[in-house]
Amino acid sequence: MTQDELKHAAAKAALTYLLQKLDGKMVIGIGTGSTINYFIDLLAEYRMDFDGAVASSEATATRLKKHGIPVYDLNSVSEMDFYIDGADELNKYLELIKGGGGALTREKIIAAVAKTFICIADESKMVSGLGNFPLPVEVIPMARSYVAREIVKLGGDPIYREGFVTDNGNIILDIHHLSITNPHALEEKINNITGVVCNGLFAKRRADLVFLAKKEKGIELL
Ligand code: A5P
Repeated sequence: MTQDELKHAAAKAALTYLLQKLDGKMVIGIGTGSTINYFIDLLAEYRMDFDGAVASSEATATRLKKHGIPVYDLNSVSEMDFYIDGADELNKYLELIKGGGGALTREKIIAAVAKTFICIADESKMVSGLGNFPLPVEVIPMARSYVAREIVKLGGDPIYREGFVTDNGNIILDIHHLSITNPHALEEKINNITGVVCNGLFAKRRADLVFLAKKEKGIELL
């Protein structure tokens, strides 16, 4: 199986799980990235079985609308049972690094609202320790240099993602060579730097369920 086939398999497994829970009033939170794109395309067939979605990025909103799935502003949704999204890295505690696509802040907001956060991933995303994938940090543009200096003090190498602007009008610093021994503490520490909007560690609000697609063993539910 190729990595794309594994992503598709993870998406399909999550959809099979979700289909049993759908009802006509349900609004589903939808993430961003290549894995969730498979999920959106599969979900489209069932668009009459739920009310609509909240999108974590403009790209996801466009894809949902193309399929005729209504997209709601999060502020108009009083409760959300499920948020589905991919990850760049995950560990056995279901803590994640996200934001490779730059949508981390909206992803984190929707994940905070949802009762259940379902992560879908292929086995390449599973790691014994987080941090090999450069940690994305969304930063207010005028704070870029200051935040970068503060991150160096934490032992990381921040690299400016040139030419990239988030859906919120901010920039991204990708932090390389971080040794993440305590994801929860580091998430808080980075968020406390003035000028940081959000970072891609999902430890405080980690995934509740993971559908992990493996070449040899099929779908593993974590
Ligand atoms: C988007 O900002 C990210 O958090 C994605 O969810 C994550 O990068 C996973 O993307 P892929 O499914 O494309 O690997």
